Amino acid sequence: MTEPATNRPFVRLSGVGHRYDPNPAIPPAVTGIELDIRRHEFVAVVGPSGCGKSTLLRMIAGLLTPTEGQVSVFGKQVSGPRDDVGIVFQKPTLLPWLTVRKNVLFPLKHKFGRYGRDDEKRADALLAMAGLESFANKMPNELSGGMQQRVGIVRALLLNPDILLMDEPFSALDAMTREQIGFDLLKIWQENPKTVLFITHSIAEAVLLADRVLVMSKRPGTVLEMVDVDLPSHARPKPYPNPDSAS
Ligand SMILES: Nc1ncnc2c1ncn2[C@@H]1O[C@H](COP(=O)(O)OP(=O)(O)OP(=O)(O)O)[C@@H](O)[C@H]1O
Ligand SMILES: [Mg+2]
Repeated sequence: MTEPATNRPFVRLSGVGHRYDPNPAIPPAVTGIELDIRRHEFVAVVGPSGCGKSTLLRMIAGLLTPTEGQVSVFGKQVSGPRDDVGIVFQKPTLLPWLTVRKNVLFPLKHKFGRYGRDDEKRADALLAMAGLESFANKMPNELSGGMQQRVGIVRALLLNPDILLMDEPFSALDAMTREQIGFDLLKIWQENPKTVLFITHSIAEAVLLADRVLVMSKRPGTVLEMVDVDLPSHARPKPYPNPDSAS
C-alpha cells in the first residue's frame, strides 16, 4: 500500500548542526539534530536562550548552511533561500521607506513582479485581523514594537507559504493580544494548512498551538525530547491522519 503523501516527512533534518566558530575548542551552536516534520504539521520549538533555535530555523529556511548533516524539503536538499517559505523573524525587519500595506505586499511583488487588487484586499483583511486596519498607510517608525511584529506576521501569512517558520513571533505582544493572535493563527492554519515551525519561550503557547513540541538542550543545542501534544482539551482537528492510529 502506498503511504499517504501527508504522512511522508516533508521537512527532514539528518544529523544537522552548525558551528559559527571554526575553532574546535568552541562547541558548535547546534549539533546532531534529527527531525522529521510531516506536511501540515505544527511543530513548536522550546529551549533556553542561546541554545540555537534561531540557528535551526535559519538552516531550514536556507539562510544558513549546516556545517554538519543536511536539511531537505520533500526529498530535495535545501541549498539556498526558498520562495515557498514564509519567515517571521525574531525582530521585525520592515522596510522603513514603505508604508505598512506596501511592506506586507513587498514579498509578493518580489516573487511575482506585481500584485493585484485581490492581494491588496487580502492584505487589508489580514491587517484587520492583526488589529492594524487603521495603520495600513502609516510608516513602520510610527508603530510600536509589538505592532511592527504583527506587520511581520501578516507579511509572512500573505504569501500563503507551504512552510511557515516563526521565530518568537508573539514575544513583543501583550498577553491578551498574544492569546488572540495565537487563535487567529490556528484559524488561518486550519483554513490554509501549512507546515509550521514555531519558536517560543512559552511552554503554554507551544502546547496550545502545536502537534509536537521539540525541546532543545542548552548549547550545543541538541534534541532533548520530542513531545506529542495529545491533550483532551486540544480540540482542534489535525489536518493529517495520525500514522500511529492507522491499522
Ligand atoms: N552570527 C553569529 N555568529 C556567531 N555566533 C552566533 C551567531 N548567531 C548566533 N550565534 C551563537 O550561536 C548560539 C545560538 O544562537 P541562536 O540565536 O540560534 O540562539 P536562540 O536559541 O535563538 O536564542 P534566543 O532564545 O535568545 O533567541 C549562541 O551562543 C549565539 O551566541
Ligand atoms: Mg533566537
